[in-house]
Amino acid sequence: MSDIKRIPLNKLEIGMYVTEQSEGVADGRVQEKGFIRREETLRKLQAKKIAEVYIDVKKGKDSPFALPVLTSQTTFKARVVLDEERSRAEKVYGEARGLMSDIIANVKMGKAIDVAPVEELAEDINDSILNNPNALLCLSQIREKDQYLLEHSINVGLLISVFSTHLGYDKATVKELTMGGLLHDIGKIRVPYQVLNKPGKLTDDEWVEMKMHVAYGQAVLQESKGISDIAKSICGLHHERLDGTGYPMGLSGDEINVYGRMAAVVDVYDAVTASRCYHKGMSPFEAMKLLVKMSEDHLDKGLVYSFIRCMSVYPVGTVVELNNGLVGVVIEPNLQLPSEPKIRTFFNSKRRSFEAAKVVDLAKLPRDSKAEHKIMCTREAEEFKVDIRDYL
Ligand SMILES: [Fe+2]
Repeated sequence: MSDIKRIPLNKLEIGMYVTEQSEGVADGRVQEKGFIRREETLRKLQAKKIAEVYIDVKKGKDSPFALPVLTSQTTFKARVVLDEERSRAEKVYGEARGLMSDIIANVKMGKAIDVAPVEELAEDINDSILNNPNALLCLSQIREKDQYLLEHSINVGLLISVFSTHLGYDKATVKELTMGGLLHDIGKIRVPYQVLNKPGKLTDDEWVEMKMHVAYGQAVLQESKGISDIAKSICGLHHERLDGTGYPMGLSGDEINVYGRMAAVVDVYDAVTASRCYHKGMSPFEAMKLLVKMSEDHLDKGLVYSFIRCMSVYPVGTVVELNNGLVGVVIEPNLQLPSEPKIRTFFNSKRRSFEAAKVVDLAKLPRDSKAEHKIMCTREAEEFKVDIRDYL
């Protein structure tokens, strides 16, 4: 893991160490690499038209606005094949359900969160994701309609773990982010049940109450010993939007640190893909399109595109139909060739009949059969009355 990070120039502070990779060092626009010791140096640097500089966080101060420097677009080199990780991932997901249910019950009774088991769970999640992210991501596709808060909390934890690993964050930061993801909506416990689960549109007063979940969550995390600032950022900032239209503080632009921006992306993604008792969730593909739209004003564009690259346009669990009529479930996205994932086919829409399940790696087909194995559209598992668990 590199100690070099990049940071927007206006977030550079005294005590940080600027490295020679920074734009402007080579052509003399930035005087030299090294420590920022004086206000004056900072001001001089900020007068240059440079978007960001590189800092060495081992030699100088770190910052919540710094992003890791990607060494490659694909940090994901799964350590084991999906089948090998499947049972371990199921165990971790089971533990997550148990622990999050306990936390929800405890917070309901006004108790603080015992941080140690959350930390352990975050480590187990991160390990499984390093082994093979698709094993846990498969499980996040399976939802029960009345378990929204529980499943959304777990999924935001999983997604932010996958995303931050992809972005190249170090293990300790990924763990803090995962803990923040798991606990980001814990304040919803204190929102009245009829508001939290109201099927229709909220009234203005109800909406005010709903928005309070951020402040309630921050209070719970404050009362709980050992919660890091990173985890608190995730909770406090996940509804802030870059154009200032978010809540609770209406922060904008650089006032929202990178952790809050990442949380906003994964929170929206999971929220819109979830089916609730009163509306059907979007397909992952539709959700990606929405994220792109929201990156015009609400979400960080760079992070949205990184997230799409990380999940691929057809994430695991997506049901796709090929131009030859075969319908299958994506069991392994292809990050280099996103439109050619590995799928397990189960239905033939031309014959309108189920077929014996078969694994087809669209990227590995001989050239002459590729033309008839192109993804035409995404479908819904419900249309076929199947449980995708049987095919993942
Ligand atoms: Fe929330």
